[in-house]
Amino acid sequence: MSTPVLAPECVASLRAALASQGYAYLSAFSPDRTGLALLALAGSFGSVYLPPDVDPAHPVLESHPAADASLLAPFDRPEAIGWHNDFSTHADRPALSLAYLARPDPLGPEHGAWRVASCDRVLDQLRATRDGREVIRFLRETDLPYSFTGDGAPSFFRALEPRGSPPGRLGMRLYGRAMRDGARLAYGTIPEEIERAVKAVEGAANQVGHVLAAPAGALLVTDNWHSLHDRLPQCVDPKLSLRCSLLCFVEALHQPLALPNP
Ligand SMILES: [Fe+2]
Repeated sequence: MSTPVLAPECVASLRAALASQGYAYLSAFSPDRTGLALLALAGSFGSVYLPPDVDPAHPVLESHPAADASLLAPFDRPEAIGWHNDFSTHADRPALSLAYLARPDPLGPEHGAWRVASCDRVLDQLRATRDGREVIRFLRETDLPYSFTGDGAPSFFRALEPRGSPPGRLGMRLYGRAMRDGARLAYGTIPEEIERAVKAVEGAANQVGHVLAAPAGALLVTDNWHSLHDRLPQCVDPKLSLRCSLLCFVEALHQPLALPNP
């Protein structure tokens, strides 16, 4: 099968959206359900990440919603994932996540839709109040425990750190479940200041975020330092033809994302 050719202007407009808001969305990216167009797009951004146990010749994950899906596969579980960016528990995080809707949720557009929020806007929202500014200070200055598996020793990171341009711009590492599980493992309980900070970021994302419909053929690309995303509750009735998304990741960008010259 030949590699799909992507229009340069399509890639350029996605890069511009990623640079300015931390995510890019197309309601009709491609009819290609094989994942080849998605991989071609990923390859145009940078080196494609190879997840463990995935065919290196086709490094695409396919979602299979199920009532009993593992907590380690949040994209397969029925409930909303919650605001997060991907690989929040990895020291070295793939730069971009790409999600493509091969098949929509059978219960209609309010199921399985994406939510997205620009971290710049989330931080602006927090900076508007004294409590929010205190949360930013806490998240910048405190090493916090994270755990994706909810087991073993947590990893410690700052939830906010300088990333990208212009200088001083903050990148975010956030996943409420992983931060709460990390806190339980590290301290035996969730300290009030961690719970308050996670809730404040999630609340700000609720204020500035958007719901994006996920029809067949839709694409969402997220910058893992500069946006948060979520997937709303999805149908897991095995008698129905369930939502299917294809996921792949860009490990490192060929070129930093930058706004085009005015
Ligand atoms: Fe995700």
